[in-house]
Amino acid sequence: MEIDVNEIKSFYSSLEATYREKTPRSLSLFKRAKKVFPDGLTYSIRKLSPYPPYIIKGKGAKVSDIDGNVYTDYWMGHGALFLGHAPDEILNVIKEQIENGAHFGYENEIALRYAELLIKILPNAEAIKFTNSGTESNYFVLRLARVYTKKLKVIKMKGGWHGAVEQLHYNVSYPYEGFETGGIPSELDMYVESVPFNDLNALEKVLKKRNIAAVFLEPVLGGGGAIGPEKDYLKGVRELCDQYDSLLVFDEVITGFRLALGGAQEYYGVKADIVTLGKIIGGGVPGAGAFAGPYDIMKYVEKERPKGERAYHSGTFSGNPLTTMAGYATIAYLMKNRGLYDHINLLGEGIKRKIDSLREESEIPIYSTGVGSVIGVHFTTSRPKNHREVYELRWGKGLIEKAYNMFMRVNNIIYISEDLAHLLLSVKHGEEDIERFTNLTREFLERIKKVIKM
Ligand SMILES: Cc1ncc(COP(=O)(O)O)c(C=O)c1O
Repeated sequence: MEIDVNEIKSFYSSLEATYREKTPRSLSLFKRAKKVFPDGLTYSIRKLSPYPPYIIKGKGAKVSDIDGNVYTDYWMGHGALFLGHAPDEILNVIKEQIENGAHFGYENEIALRYAELLIKILPNAEAIKFTNSGTESNYFVLRLARVYTKKLKVIKMKGGWHGAVEQLHYNVSYPYEGFETGGIPSELDMYVESVPFNDLNALEKVLKKRNIAAVFLEPVLGGGGAIGPEKDYLKGVRELCDQYDSLLVFDEVITGFRLALGGAQEYYGVKADIVTLGKIIGGGVPGAGAFAGPYDIMKYVEKERPKGERAYHSGTFSGNPLTTMAGYATIAYLMKNRGLYDHINLLGEGIKRKIDSLREESEIPIYSTGVGSVIGVHFTTSRPKNHREVYELRWGKGLIEKAYNMFMRVNNIIYISEDLAHLLLSVKHGEEDIERFTNLTREFLERIKKVIKM
């Protein structure tokens, strides 16, 4: 399958011209931003060409930019905004807490009450520590796993993202070779090994050496393309970790509270030794993160232990009353409204089914992936089963993906990234959003028929 590169580039240029017409104020802000932010961006992942829209307001499933364009959002604050932007259900609680103090730096009952609630709903968790981000959660757990097992090496999945944690910032993006950044001594790669997701044989080969402290794994690959685990894969990983004395760490920064209240552990009925959390745990308020597990493991973060036998944990804003209040209100709301999980998971299944039926209708290879409300849309020759196939099976040279993002953007649908369509729904998305998303995808496919040499 081939595409006419000139044709797709010219289609993209016409879309970009429309985008520029709609967003002059964003352009002028980006010009300022380039002077103060490297890349011109607060976080490089937020790149949208030729410049991003500057968002001034979010409500429900919509965001508005400074030029007055209103978009349906499928990025939802990196997936943190499960109840939508500025959710009425918890807004008063947040406002009240700000008035009482967003941060004390002392122990407080709000964090305690939230921890007690989380222990009840997270499978296999007896103790918990709050952190300020998903990155921090994985950072502390990396140490904890090493201290607990007295082993140094860890395994992660190729294409797996655990934040920019030294040892785990490894084989994240295609073609999955080495550390993703300078500044890490290359010898440190002796302490990390990566294996393909959904491949138990590859995992066992490495585990067999019995020198692995922990296997870090996103139960559903998020940034790696919204790829779900094959049947019994997670169960198999659990068994292998038990067999070879390694801890199993589920990075549930995306899937936590999203697939089910108890996250992927509950959804798949597989227990991890430690779970790392972020995003939704903070109720949409910054400083969101935690890690949890059985007391027997978690006790190694206690400061009173001898230096070599403790995994130190810290954080000025950890367990702050604002984030834990917002998190508590969010999780308590979800507990009372468990039907929302059926709603959002059905919506996710619906969008995937519709994308797949567009393939049959248009005869253009487009495939959906993902689980529940974590959804991938791929222009690949078949449905990708792992991170590698997400890129290697592409027929549009990355140009189709970029055009799709821009086409959606000029039609008031927004998501990140422009290289990979992975969508994160909130409970505020509805059938009509899904319908609109599908109709626009149909239009896009019609339009790109011209650029495909069948
Ligand atoms: C699975 C996963 N782990 C960890 C992280 C890092 O979380 P944070 O950006 O809060 O540091 C992310 C962020 O996207 C993630 O998706």
